[in-house]
Amino acid sequence: MSKPHNIIWHDSSITKEDRRKQNNHSSFVLWFTGLSGSGKSTIANVLAKELYDRNIRNYVLDGDNIRNGLNRDLSFSDEDRTENIRRISEVSKLFVENGTVVLTAFISPFLQDREKAKAIVSEEEFIEIFVSCPIEECEKRDPKGLYGKARKGEIPDFTGIDSPYEEPISPALTIHTNEQSVTESVVVILNYLKNRKLI
Ligand code: PPS
Repeated sequence: MSKPHNIIWHDSSITKEDRRKQNNHSSFVLWFTGLSGSGKSTIANVLAKELYDRNIRNYVLDGDNIRNGLNRDLSFSDEDRTENIRRISEVSKLFVENGTVVLTAFISPFLQDREKAKAIVSEEEFIEIFVSCPIEECEKRDPKGLYGKARKGEIPDFTGIDSPYEEPISPALTIHTNEQSVTESVVVILNYLKNRKLI
């Protein structure tokens, strides 16, 4: 994408460091990626409450919700998924500037889009969490009945069926939701954050 013309950046009078100091914690993005039904939103929301209870300001950006508003003009074509992730990355960066911990729960199926997201947010502030679950198990869970519809041909370009999912190569964490409970997964992430002195 080309650089905008005649646009001059304004520095904020309050810096990200000021906001972090006031909040008494760091700010970063926990980028959950995985198939539909793998458990991204469930884990992100339980973790969000745990962080909230520890006075850590946070916000969950969730695929279904964002596609209801900000990204309601986007489809599930490859190009629109790329634009979806680009916009989310920019929004996440703003939240990080604001001193907020961001939890994103998007399928984000393409490696290249997640690499771009990392570059937009910044490498140090981007923590990729692979929510791994075999597609057979996601299909068995089918919490929204979408796999059933996709198999009948009622939803085109469905991830894992007729649209690809590219697994992360070196995520910070991999959560196996067919082997670990939600509580266990959340504890693993909290321990990771504590070990890195991020919370
Ligand atoms: S993406 O690939 O990152 O742009 O997708 P995302 O914004 O996370 O949206 C995924 C949710 O949209 C619903 N849905 C679909 N998913 C995949 N493929 C197709 N074609 C599709 N159509 C609708 C589905 O509820 C996804 O939610 P999750 O929470 O992942 O199950």
